[in-house]
Amino acid sequence: MVRSELVVRLIESHVKKDDDSFKTTVFELINEEKSKGNDLVAGQLKRASRGLAVYHLSSLKPRGLEELPTAESGLPLLETRRPVETFDDIVLPIELQNSFCSLIKETKNRGTLHLWGISTPSKILLCGPPGTGKTFSAHVLASELGYDLLYIRLDSLISSYLGQTGNNLRKIFDFARGKRAILFLDEFDAIAKMRDDMNELGEIKRIVNSLVQNIDMFSSEGLLLAATNHPQLLDTAIWRRFDEVFWFDLPSRKERMRIFQIHARAMPLNNVDFDNLAVRTKDFSGSDIEKVVRLTARKAVTEDATVISEDVFLSCIETIKYKKIKQKIAMAGRNGFAQKKLKSEELKKKAIELRKEGLSLEEIGERIDKSPTTVHRYIKD
Ligand SMILES: Nc1ncnc2c1ncn2[C@@H]1O[C@H](COP(=O)(O)OP(=O)(O)OP(=O)(O)O)[C@@H](O)[C@H]1O
Ligand SMILES: [Mg+2]
Repeated sequence: MVRSELVVRLIESHVKKDDDSFKTTVFELINEEKSKGNDLVAGQLKRASRGLAVYHLSSLKPRGLEELPTAESGLPLLETRRPVETFDDIVLPIELQNSFCSLIKETKNRGTLHLWGISTPSKILLCGPPGTGKTFSAHVLASELGYDLLYIRLDSLISSYLGQTGNNLRKIFDFARGKRAILFLDEFDAIAKMRDDMNELGEIKRIVNSLVQNIDMFSSEGLLLAATNHPQLLDTAIWRRFDEVFWFDLPSRKERMRIFQIHARAMPLNNVDFDNLAVRTKDFSGSDIEKVVRLTARKAVTEDATVISEDVFLSCIETIKYKKIKQKIAMAGRNGFAQKKLKSEELKKKAIELRKEGLSLEEIGERIDKSPTTVHRYIKD
């Protein structure tokens, strides 16, 4: 269909309040721009339509699809997403990219492999530090396979009455059975963490058993994906249920550079040295970089800039660095002494860095909320 016809259909869907047709048309528009090689426009459309990717299957009921399972509280246990992100939007180390590509090819050719008597991996565990792209990869995988992402609402699952979690898990897995979809257990450790929050060991045992049974019975039509940044909290019985574990890590300098480029690709830039940005963002995750880019864009707009220079990026990197330090301090446990020590060490590091960049004692003091005398002591040490 040509573009103008798609636009007409888009308007008609909006007027008729036909959400389903609206979403399908947006996806067609994106694909059309992509096939014409208009990656920039396709990217802009994708970003603009991100909110559309979340919808409830119940809204599609007229098409004969089942209603989403709910907890006793009435809250849905699942949310359905139809992601639009692709491999062009994510930067992964080559080994991880290969693992995802093999998984996609094997899943697409499952029928043939089954005829040959070969079973394919269908239960994958994603492990790695926060913000390294685990949830994002689940989106990419769903979009590349053309599957829906059945996103498990852990809040509904866990906040349900004690004794109901097992029942809810069964409802979720029953719903996913036989569907060409990805059942996604994000922040999977929350289930394992219940061990700390619950005194009743018998109940936890029942939940873990129920999870193990459900994972065992999971049909191979779709994929089961679970993500965690605390793999050490998972029960060994659960670990063994997964066919493969994909490990994520903080991005390398080269990867950071590409993540910057991807996230800033639609922005009007003036001579930005992405490698320099990558050098200055050691230990940043993909999510931290995304935050820098977002902050940079917002800052440029508030300052009425028509093009964005490297300086704006650099200043936003500092802001995010400072926020990261604050977060680290807040999470450094409740031990007051340890917190204080960590805080002064981090501030010292920060003060030295800012000094190297040529800031005065007063300017540094303002940034780290300390007097110039304290800043002087930090630098002298
Ligand atoms: N490798 C990457 N390439 C490109 N963008 C990334 C990458 N990693 C993270 N991002 C950006 O950061 C955002 C957040 O990442 P995501 O939610 O996938 O992290 P996560 O590993 O699931 O973290 P958490 O463990 O905290 O849930 C993504 O939506 C994406 O915009
Ligand atoms: Mg996540």
